[in-house]
Amino acid sequence: MRISRLVAAAAVAAMFSAGAAYAKTVKVGIVLPYTGGGADFAKQIEKGMKLYLSQNKDKLGGHEVELVTRDSKRPGGDIAKVAVQELITREKVDILGGFVYSPNAMSVAPLVTEAKVPMVIMNAGTSFIPAMSPYYARVSFTMWQSGYHMGKYAAEKLGYKTAMAGFTNYPPGKDSAAAFKRGFEDAGGKVQELIPMGGPREVPDFTPFFQKVKDAKPNALYMFVPAGSHASAVVKTYNDLGMRGAGIALIGPGDITQDTKLQGMGDGAQGLVTVHHYSADYDTPENKAFVKAWKAAYGADSTPDFMGVQGYDGMAAIVDVINKLNGEIDADKAMDILKGWKFASPRGPIMIDPQTRDIVQNEYVHKVTKQGDRLMIEVVATIPQVKDPCKELKVGKCK
Ligand code: PHB
Repeated sequence: MRISRLVAAAAVAAMFSAGAAYAKTVKVGIVLPYTGGGADFAKQIEKGMKLYLSQNKDKLGGHEVELVTRDSKRPGGDIAKVAVQELITREKVDILGGFVYSPNAMSVAPLVTEAKVPMVIMNAGTSFIPAMSPYYARVSFTMWQSGYHMGKYAAEKLGYKTAMAGFTNYPPGKDSAAAFKRGFEDAGGKVQELIPMGGPREVPDFTPFFQKVKDAKPNALYMFVPAGSHASAVVKTYNDLGMRGAGIALIGPGDITQDTKLQGMGDGAQGLVTVHHYSADYDTPENKAFVKAWKAAYGADSTPDFMGVQGYDGMAAIVDVINKLNGEIDADKAMDILKGWKFASPRGPIMIDPQTRDIVQNEYVHKVTKQGDRLMIEVVATIPQVKDPCKELKVGKCK
């Protein structure tokens, strides 16, 4: 007995010393809009991924990660599709990740299913996306998590009776506006109109759209735009037209009060209420440690936003898969690990729903306040562990 144990121990030791020879390089194909209007989003996600990797090398079980990046440039889906084709056939990546824009995540679903490559979605928020391939898992958010709960909160807690919703006219925008309407009307409010306001590439002139809303005088205007410069333009137009003074509150998902754009929005942003899953201002030990590490890595002026944390958490999921599979990535086994995967994220506890492969997370009601000369996000309410309401309520393509 003793001897056989010793022999076993020696065998294990031999395996370990030979471990370097067995170390695998796991290729992770990353598709992000590195150039064009979404370049800041790509930088955030990549910084988040790299921060997690630099802090957690020990969790790779001696294996290496090679990030093979491709530029998806625009939201249209076409360039992302070519990129993924190349990553699968030429680069032979083991895992895919990234995807800021919904149409890009959607366009590659048949390729991913056919090639059986696990894909971790780090932004793209249209609710039904994970159902498009059994190899998709999402660590970011769904448009219905923020939109539906913003609608409910606006009617139940803010007391608004009427609202209009403006949205960037592509899948996540339509989804977000529909989610808001359902939440607001479930709680007794009335949405007078859903107004498409331009496409995701160029920032439109919001003035004529907002003027129409101002003339209709709803209690609130719910706005979804794809963060970044679109969000800055929304808040600017709202202020320029004096809509707050006209009694119309601006509300939306946290995409319109993104941490990295907030300070540039000026005092007019004070009082905005949004619902989202992350702000760098969250006062929790996990988030404070994350923001501190981010600033140490990228400079005191750099701030993570929701895309940064999604990159960080996405890489945490990928590293966990590599660890549990000891560097040998089998797609079905990887998906089994991702289903039910849990993580103490800087945004709070998160889980991938084993049934839908979609994120379950807290949604937070944000109010923009001012401390000293700095605008900041104050959390005024928390809706714990939200599953995608679109799937829970079996709406449209989420059925
Ligand atoms: C998306 O295309 O799904 C998307 C892009 C930017 C956002 C939110 C959603 O801020």
